[in-house]
Amino acid sequence: MTGLTGKRILLVVSGGIAAYKALELIRRLRERGASVRAVMTAAAQAFVTPLSVGALTGGRVFTDLLDREDEHDVGHIRLARECDLVLIAPATADLLARMAQGLAGDLATTVLLATDRPVLAAPAMNPRMWAHPATQRNLATLHADGVHFVGPEVGEMAESGEAGLGRMAEPADIAAAAEALLTPRAIMAATLAGQHVLVTAGPTHEPIDPVRYIANRSSGRQGFAVAEAAAAAGARVTLVAGPVALADPPGVRTVRVETAAEMLAAVEAALPADVAVMAAAVGDWRPQEAAPGKLKKKAGEAARLDLTTNPDILAAVAQHATKRPRLVVGFAAETDDLLANAEAKRAAKGCDMIVANDVSPGTGVMGGARNTVHLVTAAGVESWPSMLKTAVAERLVARIAETLARSRAAAE
Ligand code: CTP
Repeated sequence: MTGLTGKRILLVVSGGIAAYKALELIRRLRERGASVRAVMTAAAQAFVTPLSVGALTGGRVFTDLLDREDEHDVGHIRLARECDLVLIAPATADLLARMAQGLAGDLATTVLLATDRPVLAAPAMNPRMWAHPATQRNLATLHADGVHFVGPEVGEMAESGEAGLGRMAEPADIAAAAEALLTPRAIMAATLAGQHVLVTAGPTHEPIDPVRYIANRSSGRQGFAVAEAAAAAGARVTLVAGPVALADPPGVRTVRVETAAEMLAAVEAALPADVAVMAAAVGDWRPQEAAPGKLKKKAGEAARLDLTTNPDILAAVAQHATKRPRLVVGFAAETDDLLANAEAKRAAKGCDMIVANDVSPGTGVMGGARNTVHLVTAAGVESWPSMLKTAVAERLVARIAETLARSRAAAE
């Protein structure tokens, strides 16, 4: 049994050189127990014939919107609905653009507009086309519409020998992504069951003297929500929390700390973990020495604090020599150049994913209930619509489970 056993997949093949890989993809999907129906665009038929696609699906291939026989037999609405997943591979820049616009000029786009099923796209295009602002705009629209993506990957382009981001994900990875997407909650729980998820949350307080400290505006809500969602999905969760006014989430081992140094020590003591989600707003600096007694002001004299830099807990975990978790997720709260800063942070700290959010004044993110985040991975940026921090947490935990399931499936 796999997550694809008995699942019906509608495969939309659009016209790119990677269309030939659709043949292997069909084989992979069927090997895992899925049945596949295929729709091909006119351009796709210039790369592979409906005859060879049909030979592999074991059924007829649908190509025309206005074919009386097809419409009489099955029809585009039934095609769009009689499946568990619509999978687009390859998804060309043109098809993604037409989807983002809601166009329905051929059978493929009509089915995509009419479906109420999850949609997974495997983009494939020239790296310049992928990087073009128009394509990136379309991707952001499609992400916000709930379309899922697998790839593209970095590699050499078949047609030009150019290298860059744009090559379609390998068929095995696409099949694994389809499987993860169709994995019901129970299987998601099986992926996370017994896995140790380590979460940091909240601000830190860095003492100046016994009564004063340096702090920040983090409420801890996002990190607490992640801990709670991971526990609800069956994980064993350790939450290392800075000073916040939130109760321990149910079923979560919560360790309360004050300072960045204490947080690092608690995190190190909690390792090994399978997944680390570092959502704390760790103070970057601390007073060089906390005064043992309350500092007294002196009339007419300016005060100064000597600060020293705190350890970077996320970097320490992501670059751990012996106990690096399989998946390390960081957060990036920025007021300027959000995505560029987030990607730079991801690379510099060595984590797998960064959840980036804009914390400019007026967004209400700091301390508020909602968050608008972008998921930054090696494969690119996924922008999520504004949602409750609890919903961000649930979606993040689902993505973590998906990523673990995918790497497990790829290793098998
Ligand atoms: N982080 C950490 N330890 C630190 C500083 C940050 O673990 N001493 C983690 C946070 O939990 C978050 C990520 O690093 O997951 C990014 O934190 P952020 O404060 O946005 O980045 P900094 O590295 O501090 O960079 P800067 O403040 O210059 O933007």
